[in-house]
Amino acid sequence: MKALSVSLVLGFFLTLSRAAPLNSTYPMKMMMMGGDQDMDKPHPMDMKPYCPYGWTLYEHECFIFINSYKTWIEAEYYCMFVGGNLASVHSYEQNHFLQSLTEDGTNSFPLTWIGANDAVYMTAWLWSDGSKCDYQNWSRSYQMSQKNETERCLQTNYGLLKKWINAPCNKSLPFICGKMM
Ligand SMILES: *[C@@H]1O[C@H](CO)[C@@H](O)[C@H](O)[C@H]1NC(C)=O
Ligand SMILES: *[C@@H]1O[C@H](CO)[C@@H](O)[C@H](O)[C@H]1NC(C)=O
Ligand SMILES: *[C@@H]1O[C@H](CO)[C@@H](O)[C@H](O)[C@H]1NC(C)=O
Ligand SMILES: *[C@@H]1O[C@H](CO)[C@@H](O)[C@H](O)[C@H]1NC(C)=O
Repeated sequence: MKALSVSLVLGFFLTLSRAAPLNSTYPMKMMMMGGDQDMDKPHPMDMKPYCPYGWTLYEHECFIFINSYKTWIEAEYYCMFVGGNLASVHSYEQNHFLQSLTEDGTNSFPLTWIGANDAVYMTAWLWSDGSKCDYQNWSRSYQMSQKNETERCLQTNYGLLKKWINAPCNKSLPFICGKMM
């Protein structure tokens, strides 16, 4: 009887210690900061917002290029699932930065979804994260294709100059997610 309850208790603790790594945010952070004793001291690095592994900080937002082909809406859902939206773009520098995330190491830049569509009203582009439309970098070909009713989503890296152009939302492309920190 006694042996049984001991093994029950032991089993309980084993379960606990096996479960612990699943919730690994705290231990991970501890390891990265070099142990418990550093936890109370403000660390210079902590002053900056810090991105999850695989994401890159740009101003106050973290971005990640997902090299998996999805339709625009699947891509948006994916980004929402990881706590963000498809990336919105607000400056020349940021546009350039996001393009650099899509580069595959061989100087090739695949067509990539970013977070705008004009599905509500043609040519009225809205970012899926609700931010202001204060920057654009359309390809010249957009002049021709903007009235094409079947092309309501925004892809970047189009043509030699890697500009923006509309595309059918059901096309499958890799994509960039962004989230505020
Ligand atoms: C992980 O641990 C934190 C802090 O103890 C807790 O708030 C959170 O609910 C835990 N998450 C899971 C998935 O157990
Ligand atoms: C658009 O992007 C091209 C390069 O991709 C760059 O040369 C140009 O300056 C950009 N235009 C704007 C308005 O940012
Ligand atoms: C409209 O877009 C579709 C899909 O990209 C394309 O196949 C079609 O040729 C375009 N139509 C015109 C008139 O450009
Ligand atoms: C996208 O939708 C259009 C119109 O519904 C359809 O004709 C086309 O085959 C679809 N393309 C893909 C890649 O599913």
